[in-house]
Amino acid sequence: MPDSNDPDRSSSRDPLRYATDFHAPVLSHDVRTRLVTAAGGRYVDATLGGGGHARALLDELGPEGQVLGIDRDPEALATARDRLADEREAGRFRAVRGTFGDLRALLEAEDFIPIDGLLLDLGVSSEQIDVAERGFSFQEEGPLDMRMDPRQGLRAQHIVNDWSEHDLRAVLQDFGEERRAGSVAHAIVEARPLDTTRDLAEVIRSVVPPPDEVKTLARVFQALRIAVNAELRQLEEALEQSVEVVRPGGRIAVISYHSLEDRRAKRFLRYGNFEGEPRRDLYGNLVAPWREVPRGPIEASEAEVEANPRARSARLRVAERRNDEEMGQPMP
Ligand SMILES: C[S@@+](CC[C@H](N)C(=O)[O-])C[C@H]1O[C@@H](n2cnc3c(N)ncnc32)[C@H](O)[C@@H]1O
Repeated sequence: MPDSNDPDRSSSRDPLRYATDFHAPVLSHDVRTRLVTAAGGRYVDATLGGGGHARALLDELGPEGQVLGIDRDPEALATARDRLADEREAGRFRAVRGTFGDLRALLEAEDFIPIDGLLLDLGVSSEQIDVAERGFSFQEEGPLDMRMDPRQGLRAQHIVNDWSEHDLRAVLQDFGEERRAGSVAHAIVEARPLDTTRDLAEVIRSVVPPPDEVKTLARVFQALRIAVNAELRQLEEALEQSVEVVRPGGRIAVISYHSLEDRRAKRFLRYGNFEGEPRRDLYGNLVAPWREVPRGPIEASEAEVEANPRARSARLRVAERRNDEEMGQPMP
């Protein structure tokens, strides 16, 4: 697979320039050119994965620039450390294990505050989906696991087999926005115990007729994954802490893949809260820590979606940290 050293992939606009068998990062050209504003600055990729975006950021930075990567998945860390071994030796890259919900503490421990930019490329990597034993895919048979961090206690099997029908339904509704949450939760409870992803997929297929069944399968698996990994809480915590670690004038880039993530990113980057309520100072000016640049999401080109279908649902939002005097700015 291509990488930045491949002469055939030398254009930074090539959507597969940073792709490997592990993962093909989306919108890498926009991420590197919009996030990096200081060539010698310090950047954090809080969703390191296979290190594709980190590689792109390092390529954009000058020799003094540094990237610190975070991931909760040891497989991702090992892959990225291997891929970026030369940059580690040069002192431009390091990787730490942890969850981005602990962003500030992780950076404090590395003496890496303030930073010039923060990247959150949410969700799971292609590798996590592709390895059947991790249990993320409804197309493969595997255990009901879905943990990004194998040290974690809660697995999908606990939610599927042990949680009450009421709680299971709430997960499917809240994290999958699944219309048939009630009937799917009931069918799961009736079919217990379920051992594998295939068992779960069969139960879902038994209550949802074609052609809706694939969308429901995707939503139910998404909902369980979000619950197992507390993904939305992690995102909210990282966004709140971003304000304390990114210097004024620095930037944040958030790539989301579904509306539950994008809504949170949009509201926080626009208004500084998750309710989406503009707060104003005494003079009627909007008080918010971030200013979206540009206002609104950036989406992948048709060429990128064709080369990497995962890019279809990606929404990139970029924002600049206001300084304290700017906190109360008139609404645009
Ligand atoms: C979409 S992939 C990122 C791929 C990466 N941009 C690349 O170029 O390879 C998301 C990664 O973030 C990690 N991740 C998701 N939630 C996390 C969290 N709360 N804390 C730390 N890592 C997380 C996953 O383990 C996965 O490796």
